[in-house]
Amino acid sequence: MKKLFAVLMLAVMPVLSFAAEQGVQLDKVDIDVSDKAAMQDGARTFANYCMGCHSAKFQRYERVADDLGIPHEVMLDNLVFTGAKIGDHMKIGMQPDDAKAWFGAAPPDLTLVARVRGTDWLYSYLRAFYEDPSRPWGVNNKVFPNVGMPNVLAPLQGRQVVGCKQVQIVEDGKKQYDPLTGTPLTHEACDQLTVLPKTGALTEEQFDEKIKNLVTFLAYSANPVKLEHQRIGTYVLLYLAFFFVFAYLLKREYWKDVH
Ligand code: HEC
Repeated sequence: MKKLFAVLMLAVMPVLSFAAEQGVQLDKVDIDVSDKAAMQDGARTFANYCMGCHSAKFQRYERVADDLGIPHEVMLDNLVFTGAKIGDHMKIGMQPDDAKAWFGAAPPDLTLVARVRGTDWLYSYLRAFYEDPSRPWGVNNKVFPNVGMPNVLAPLQGRQVVGCKQVQIVEDGKKQYDPLTGTPLTHEACDQLTVLPKTGALTEEQFDEKIKNLVTFLAYSANPVKLEHQRIGTYVLLYLAFFFVFAYLLKREYWKDVH
C-alpha cells in the first residue's frame, strides 16, 4: 500500500511542480483557427511588430497567403519586408549572436510557439508587460518575469503600470454582487496591471482583440494542417452523403427481386 502511494505521488509530482511554476493566473482565450479575418489581422501584426526579431522559419509566405486567402501580390507588398520571394521561408535578417548581445537572449523562432506554450499563455504574456525602470528596456512581464523582450506593442496598448485598482470579488469562481442593489462587490487590490488612460492608440477591448487575432495566427502557424483537416472533413462528409443515396438505390434494386 505504501509502495502504491509512493508510486502515485511520483506520478503526480511533475504535474504539481508544473502548476507551482506557473505562478500567475493566465487569462483564458477562445481561439478559432477557421476565422480567416482574425488570422489575416494577426499575420499583419506579426509581420509589422514581431518579425523584426522573430522568424517563423518553418513556414512559407506562400502557404500562409494561400491558407489565409491573401492574394500573393498583397502578401508581398504588405507583409514581406525582407525582399523575400513568395516561396521563401519566413526568416529574418537578425543574427542570433547579435540578438543575444542586445537582448541577453536570442528571440526564439515562433512557428511552433503556440504548441510549446499554449494559446492562453501567449494571450496573457503579450498583455502582461508593465513599466519597470529597473529593467534594461524599462519593462517587465508578469507572465515571464525579467523577460529580455521589449514591449513592442506599447504604442497600441499604452503605458501599462502596476498599481492599485478596484477588482470584483470572486468566491468559488463566481463574481459577487450586492444582494440588495445588484452592483458588483469590489475591493481594492494592489499589484494589478492598469493601463494609463489615453496613452495607447487602441482601447483595452480593441487591444485584447488585436492580441487574440495575433494568437489565432500563431495557433494556425503551429498547426497549419488543422485548416486542411477541416476542409477535407467537409468533403468527406459530402462524399458520404452523396454515396449514401447511390448505395440506397442500389440496395433497393438488389432487393426488388428478393421480396
Ligand atoms: C526587439 C526585438 C523583439 C520584438 C520586436 C519582439 N520580440 Fe518577442 N522576444 C524577444 C526576445 C529577446 C525574447 C527572448 C526573451 C527571453 O528569453 O528573455 C522574446 C521572447 C518572446 C516570446 C517567448 C518565447 C518563449 O517561449 O520563451 C514570445 C512568445 C514572443 N517573444 C512573442 C513576440 C511577439 C508575438 C512579438 C510581436 C508582437 C514579438 N515577440 C516581438 C525580442 C523581440
